[in-house]
Amino acid sequence: MRDQGTSLTQYLSDGVRQGSGLEADLATLIGEIAAVCKTLSYAIRAGGLEGVLGTAGTENVQGETQQKLDVFANEAMLHSLERSEHLAGMASEEMTDIYPVSAARGRYLLIFDPLDGSSNIDVNVSVGTIFSVLRTPTAAAELSVKDFLRPGREQVCAGYALYGPSTMLVLTTGNGVDAFTLDPRVGEYILTHPRRQIPADTREFAINMSNQRFWDPPVLRYIRECLEGRQGPRGKDFNMRWVASMVAEVHRVLSRGGVFMYPYDCREPKRPGRLRLMYEANPMAMIVEQAGGVASTGYERMLDVQPTDLHQRIPVILGSRSEVVQVTSYHAETAAEVAR
Ligand code: AHG
Ligand code: MN
Ligand code: MN
Repeated sequence: MRDQGTSLTQYLSDGVRQGSGLEADLATLIGEIAAVCKTLSYAIRAGGLEGVLGTAGTENVQGETQQKLDVFANEAMLHSLERSEHLAGMASEEMTDIYPVSAARGRYLLIFDPLDGSSNIDVNVSVGTIFSVLRTPTAAAELSVKDFLRPGREQVCAGYALYGPSTMLVLTTGNGVDAFTLDPRVGEYILTHPRRQIPADTREFAINMSNQRFWDPPVLRYIRECLEGRQGPRGKDFNMRWVASMVAEVHRVLSRGGVFMYPYDCREPKRPGRLRLMYEANPMAMIVEQAGGVASTGYERMLDVQPTDLHQRIPVILGSRSEVVQVTSYHAETAAEVAR
């Protein structure tokens, strides 16, 4: 089932048949999501030829200017998946409200960031799509926002598509992480990287350094010590990367280790971070944990956070176990000092 070279179609049907816990309707839903990502991949690849670049001239609920591709990707997700008999509703970073799927009351809810890394679209750098699947609560008579506000540990599936030099689909259903590459010659995803494991140790961090003056003491300390390299308390030199596409950063972490952070910053007190819990942090946290890494807010395991708002922002620290543990230990020290 998890042999390199297996197609996604085969992988999903094997997963169901072999009783590895993959439910048949979840497998179908994953296939449907993967198909939309294929469409998006082709549109993104066509780029300026198809007029998909540039700003849409609208703002989303987060007050961010939407790119044409943000809107296109959101609509592609909605219109392809609203016919899915396995969905009861969807929620998207680009929409104010939830989107109930009226035709059938499916068993799952889908939450997504249709186009991650929007600032990279016009400069032809990697972007992606992030998704998260929850079970529809059986008791709910009519779908409401509350049905979506569940901690990340309840996700039954999380994944992303990375539109890079090659298009990749990375998936977990709670039984490890598998990565597929889209073979553009046949239009099929092929399992190229089964059972991803994030190395526990790393010498690479990713953070937007231009926000340094807004950080809290634990992150300031961690990064200062990384920068001090071999001469400092960490006793080793670090390398730094910043793509500004979370999908690309997480994919790098998954491929060779590293720590990725978009930590708390005090720019806007109402926004305790840049990234969104439901669309970005939770699905990535599930993938990272399933690959042996750690994902935290600094103070708490990401997957244990109880969401209070569909669009809430959250500090994110994730990746190689030893480094995330190091950063969170500095947070714990600060919390203890404050308590004293
Ligand atoms: P989105 O394009 O969905 O709004 O997300 C962009 C996110 C994330 O992908 C990336 O890590 C971060 O924003 C980049 O932020 P900066 O521009 O502040 O570096
Ligand atoms: Mn995003
Ligand atoms: Mn987005």
